[in-house]
Amino acid sequence: MRFFSSTRDIPESVAVPRHVAIIMDGNGRWAKKRFLPRVAGHKRGVEAVRATVKACIERGIGYLTLFAFSSENWRRPVDEVSYLMGLFVSVLESEVEKLHDAGVRLRVIGDLSRFDARLIELIASGERRTAGNDRLVLTVAANYGGRGDIMQAVNRMIAASPAPANGYTEDDLAPHLSMAYAPEPDLFIRTGGEQRISNFLLWQLAYTECYFTDLPWPEFDAGRLDEAIGSFRARERRFGRTSEQLTDPASPSRPGHA
Ligand code: FPP
Repeated sequence: MRFFSSTRDIPESVAVPRHVAIIMDGNGRWAKKRFLPRVAGHKRGVEAVRATVKACIERGIGYLTLFAFSSENWRRPVDEVSYLMGLFVSVLESEVEKLHDAGVRLRVIGDLSRFDARLIELIASGERRTAGNDRLVLTVAANYGGRGDIMQAVNRMIAASPAPANGYTEDDLAPHLSMAYAPEPDLFIRTGGEQRISNFLLWQLAYTECYFTDLPWPEFDAGRLDEAIGSFRARERRFGRTSEQLTDPASPSRPGHA
């Protein structure tokens, strides 16, 4: 299956995003404001993940991608990294069966080689257990970095075929990216007040609508997701075209530069 590429094709407009990608930020600050340890914010963040997964299923969103741990997050205090690893293990232990019952397919992207054997095994068994589901594809990005993903794809593309006379194309590279199985996100959400992409899905976010909210991740829920979707619906997605081209079907509509 080949999904549209936002720099090469113009996709159909949709009222409900097919793919929502989220940077779940603000856990530490949420906890600090309540005089709790930072890790209490991560624990509470799991509740927001549950609410968001449920809301995506109810709204018919096909793909939800969550940035759980970036390749830069190893720079955090050792205790916090070790708490997060323990949290991932316990979430996988307790949630995989529930995800399966809800028809969710779990996928994990990122370089898993630095994780403990137990976590790697739980990820593999969770992916296997839910592999036949298609109601929602929940992708968790763990030890993931967008630049690293592009570089591994470049290396795999070169290994897969010698350079064509006119050079490689986007279509040569795209199948080697770790999210090649999903359409590009229609909506990107970042909670916690920062307005950055932070090395998330760099390739795939080329034409994604971005929504930033000051709300910390532990307070995110179905209502907040609806606010983000409402903002997405109100936008005019031009993919390089002019406003006039969107309303006049006779106008040539070729992707150019936004
Ligand atoms: C960013 O907040 C959050 C993280 C680095 C971890 C997110 C992890 C979870 C919500 C746990 C569950 C996730 C899954 C999918 C199992 P921050 O600590 O940077 O907050 P701050 O900016 O306020 O310090």
